[in-house]
Amino acid sequence: MDQNKLNTKRIFSGIQPSGVLHLGNYLGAISQFVKLQGDTNSECIFCIVDLHAITVPQDPKILREKILELAALYLACGIDPTKSTLFVQSSRPEHSELAWILNCFTNMGELNRMTQFKEKSENKSNYSVGLFDYPVLMAADILLYQTTHVPVGEDQKQHIEITRDLCERMNNKYNGLFTLPEPMINKQTARIMSLDDPNNKMSKSSPSPSSYIGLTDSPEIIREKIKRAVTDSGSEIKSGEDKPAISNLLNIFAAVTDREIADIEKDFEGNGYGEFKDALAQAVISKLAPIQEKYNKLIAGKDELRKILADGSAKIAPIAQKTLSEVKKSVGLG
Ligand code: AMP
Ligand code: TRP
Repeated sequence: MDQNKLNTKRIFSGIQPSGVLHLGNYLGAISQFVKLQGDTNSECIFCIVDLHAITVPQDPKILREKILELAALYLACGIDPTKSTLFVQSSRPEHSELAWILNCFTNMGELNRMTQFKEKSENKSNYSVGLFDYPVLMAADILLYQTTHVPVGEDQKQHIEITRDLCERMNNKYNGLFTLPEPMINKQTARIMSLDDPNNKMSKSSPSPSSYIGLTDSPEIIREKIKRAVTDSGSEIKSGEDKPAISNLLNIFAAVTDREIADIEKDFEGNGYGEFKDALAQAVISKLAPIQEKYNKLIAGKDELRKILADGSAKIAPIAQKTLSEVKKSVGLG
């Protein structure tokens, strides 16, 4: 097991291949991943978490397409397979196997408290056991690779906490099986809010496409969505607790241009929402244009994408196998 542990950072994160990847995913997660892969002391592993996607119903044909689309988007956003490992969760059976073992050390009450589960199951007459168990599979993803750091958006914080609890529980019982992972949450971009309701996060599963900016949205659609984004009372372009909508738009503006909010506020002093929204739309379009160009090329080469994913899976297999075999031995299985 010690060989499996590192002196350097090991970064692991995952994204579900469902719905439309949006600006919140990019700013909260993927752009952080890209920055981290440049650090020579970090080994980065990024996952397409298809087993998490099937916790809610999926059309098999669409899911298969979404997996390759997400691979192309990761790469188009700057994930470089020579620097990071990119793979599909279900290609490594160790994830499900470790999740089962961890299930047997997780209490119902712990999972009952998960706010994401409460939100996703709310108002549904039925939902899967998988949806309830989702955080344990996520813990398995992270612990399997002896991960030191997990870059995610704010909504995943509670899932990292339960991962840490499980890690400590198993380590106390079985003498240091796993590395204790730390969340990495970028304050400014941890929670990008919906364009039509600044009290809700921008979300893939939103029924209203005007609530998010998809990473592959055309310039016309981006302009239209930003034009229609809700604003606050008053007309000042100023961030503040009493101005959740404008604060969110300013936050997006700052993140896509790498500028300070105060600077942008100064630029728009005396201007109305119209000018501000035009400039914001242009900034988002400019940020996404090179990503979309790369994405269109990559998605045309499906075999190449499959090869990158298969190579990624093969590359990290020894780490996953080693951890799982230690865990099985510790609990008395094999
Ligand atoms: P998901 O879309 O649920 O697979 O999430 C993939 C990653 O994007 C996770 O790290 C999430 O925390 C992050 N994320 C999702 N929505 C947002 C958002 N509105 N703002 C910031 N980060 C987000
Ligand atoms: N639950 C995460 C989300 O929906 C996705 C995920 C699955 C993940 N496994 C992970 C994120 C492991 C980080 C680490 O956003």
